[in-house]
Amino acid sequence: MTADASGTWTPLVASAEVTKQPQRIVLAGVALVVWRAARGRPAVFIDRCPHKDFPLSSGRRTFFGRLVCDAHGWEFVADGTCVRAPGRPWSEVAGRHASVVECREAGGQLWVRTTPEGTPLVG
Ligand code: FES
Repeated sequence: MTADASGTWTPLVASAEVTKQPQRIVLAGVALVVWRAARGRPAVFIDRCPHKDFPLSSGRRTFFGRLVCDAHGWEFVADGTCVRAPGRPWSEVAGRHASVVECREAGGQLWVRTTPEGTPLVG
């Protein structure tokens, strides 16, 4: 993979090791959560829930590929959007997003967009 104007691509983990089970991987001191979302699409977020900062890697994946935070049950789709928050008014939740790190699979690896120094880039 090649670099471009908005960062570079850094290998994170072998594709075969990315499963439905959310896992925590630390890259350049930044904790990430990695899992396979709907239709097997890999997804990478900063490992911090936008609700109260619990690690999303402690959560689980739903049948439909959403990531559920273990603390209060907020659910996120692969683009980071919160789509469900049990017991909370939607007005409080609408527009809340997990911090997404762009990822791609190539050559048997999952790559993430980073700074040239290897720090994951959000967005
Ligand atoms: S900290 Fe994640 S749902 Fe509350």
